Amino acid sequence: MQILTTAAGLHAYTEQARQAGHRVGLVPTMGALHAGHLQLVQAARAECNEVIASIFVNPTQFNNAEDFRLYPRVPEADAALLAPAGCTALFVPSVAEMYSQTTVLRFDFGALERVMEGAHRPGHFSGVATVVSKLFHLACPHRAYFGQKDWQQVAIVKQLVADLSFDLEIVACPTIREADGLAMSSRNRRLDAPARAAAPLLYQVLQTAAAQVRRGVPPAQVQAIAEASIAQEPLFTVEYMAVADAQTLQPLTDYGAGRAVVLCLAAHLGGVRLIDNVVVEA
Ligand code: PAF
Repeated sequence: MQILTTAAGLHAYTEQARQAGHRVGLVPTMGALHAGHLQLVQAARAECNEVIASIFVNPTQFNNAEDFRLYPRVPEADAALLAPAGCTALFVPSVAEMYSQTTVLRFDFGALERVMEGAHRPGHFSGVATVVSKLFHLACPHRAYFGQKDWQQVAIVKQLVADLSFDLEIVACPTIREADGLAMSSRNRRLDAPARAAAPLLYQVLQTAAAQVRRGVPPAQVQAIAEASIAQEPLFTVEYMAVADAQTLQPLTDYGAGRAVVLCLAAHLGGVRLIDNVVVEA
């Protein structure tokens, strides 16, 4: 696995791969890798001859300096996981390499980002779109792989690709869970023992909510029950629970037959912010 640290190095690598007729897959990450990331690498490996993973804790997508500071960084352990998973090149740029000058460009994804993560983390998706655009320009991938745990991020990135005519395909891979249902996340490693023990409640509440959606329980009631269930665990503070259209992400007041509904939950647990979602047919 080749380690690349400069934008020029990445661009040259991918140019060469494309000239050799290789299909290039890109797996953008912020590191602290887990089985969910490795699944993205494996999915890319199954479809592409070149698999480039990036590890970059992107400052422009954090609206909370403490969250950025505490984001786990374990570059050596990450690199050791990537090669056996099928990664052919790893891009690990510095902040100065990715942002040689202060970025003034701001993205606005309209209604797609006025809800959920976008509403609670102002500027977050502008930062995501900035760094993802840079990575797309530098790596010129045929396909880029993202996890469905970040459901709204996938919708935003698809919109970005359509709006800016990036010539690539976005592949969304299912959420990978621990045996007790907790969605894998780099942030999980910051949970202390009591918080880790309480954490599976998030997915349990979502599963109960999904069953209620299937039974036709109105969205407002599903939301209220979920929030109350989380509030019963004193370690948790709910940030939001959304019952939304899976494509438009807009909150629902009722269900149309056969409509795909996404249930998204964000909560703070022992100082760590966790998100999860499930998709269900109403
Ligand atoms: O999902 C993430 O880890 C990040 O938002 C991404 C896509 C790597 C952009 O920094």
